[in-house]
Amino acid sequence: MHAPPEALLTRLPPDYRAALAQAASLAEAHAARLWLVGGVVRDLLCQAPLGRDVDLAVEGDALALAHDLATRLGGRLRAVHAVFGTASVEVQAAGGATLILDLAGSRVERYPSPGALPQVAPAPIEDDLYRRDFSVNALALELRAVDGQLRAGRLLDPFGGRADLVTGRLRLLHGESLRDDPTRMLRGVRLAARLALRPDPATAAQIQAALEAGYLSLVSDERILTELCLSLEEPRPDETLRLADAWGLTPQVVPGLAWSEALAERCARLAVAPGNAPAGGPLVWAGLLLYDLATEGLTAITARYPLPAEAADLLRQLPGLRAVAPLLTPGLPNSGIDRLLRPFSVTAVTVLHYAEPAVAATTARYLRQLRTMRAPLNGNDLQRLGIAPGPLLGQTLEALRAAALDGEVNTREEAEAWVRRYAPGSPGA
Ligand code: CTP
Repeated sequence: MHAPPEALLTRLPPDYRAALAQAASLAEAHAARLWLVGGVVRDLLCQAPLGRDVDLAVEGDALALAHDLATRLGGRLRAVHAVFGTASVEVQAAGGATLILDLAGSRVERYPSPGALPQVAPAPIEDDLYRRDFSVNALALELRAVDGQLRAGRLLDPFGGRADLVTGRLRLLHGESLRDDPTRMLRGVRLAARLALRPDPATAAQIQAALEAGYLSLVSDERILTELCLSLEEPRPDETLRLADAWGLTPQVVPGLAWSEALAERCARLAVAPGNAPAGGPLVWAGLLLYDLATEGLTAITARYPLPAEAADLLRQLPGLRAVAPLLTPGLPNSGIDRLLRPFSVTAVTVLHYAEPAVAATTARYLRQLRTMRAPLNGNDLQRLGIAPGPLLGQTLEALRAAALDGEVNTREEAEAWVRRYAPGSPGA
């Protein structure tokens, strides 16, 4: 954790180093100082995987630098906010990936009222670090270029963030931090879960006070949702929920949701699922965490948060999904399994797979084989066999697919014979 600044830079992938070397030499030409700041410095210190977003603070004209950097790197300039002095440069990195350099003029922020968006003014990097959330994020590493090579300058750690990473401490920088930005509670719980940090007593007290003061209700539900979605992208979203529950955050964010042993067990199943198991992802995590939530709780979430359509759809399916689990009895034919599970999305059935171990073999088989199995004949074939377009044709296709699922027909010939024998109203029936 106390590696010298130069050694930290060697932990950057080569494509990051190359882009940052260009940024540093341009900064010099602009007579600006360039700093790697926040999470990326923290992640370099703990040797954690880096994201594709790299935050850079500029003591100087960040917008002019971003503009020239985009030109030099052949990248794309986006998200330019002249009032905030911020811009992003998007460049193609190794393996077709995209690297995003977020540049921001170093600044101080003033929050006119709790939870409101800040007013900003340019300021030295030291002041910029003071406006940040936690000690482990209030870190800056100066970037220089010497003969075109990236070199490290000073490492700023004014609040003891490195020591906190070693001792596992989550520490807010000042007493007004959560009043300024209540979403920091959600950022904090995510960071604590990811890095196994515990709030120090002052931070814990501040969180309690902010919860009692109801500061979260001053923040838009959209901003809260953004934080929740980020939590679902963590390696262990369940750990975030466990901590959020322990901190008393959950009732203000998702009322009715509570940590439980059952929830812990089902999340552990997803977390350790082997590579050939049904695939997880943020939405599956969401469904699994909310699986037990009563219908009113689910409805309240869809009413409160501007959920993406796919997520709202999943939440609507959860009550039905719970009801279907006990119907998936042993010995049920494939066609019966298919009939019960087909109304649900793949994501929903995947949630069921991890939520209900008693039916996991069935849900796995459905997802792997049954769901995509087609009838050996299609609508054109049936018309050729004399069934006119209309409801009967649809019913026949369904019934034929069920017969195929149950192994009663395997080839086209068997299917044609089946149609002649069984399709009600068909010429051969
Ligand atoms: N930050 C802050 N308060 C916020 C949001 C961000 O102080 N409400 C600061 C922190 O210093 C943070 C940096 O801005 O490190 C960048 O924010 P972001 O990119 O959202 O997070 P990272 O710390 O980079 O974390 P992650 O690894 O989760 O992306």
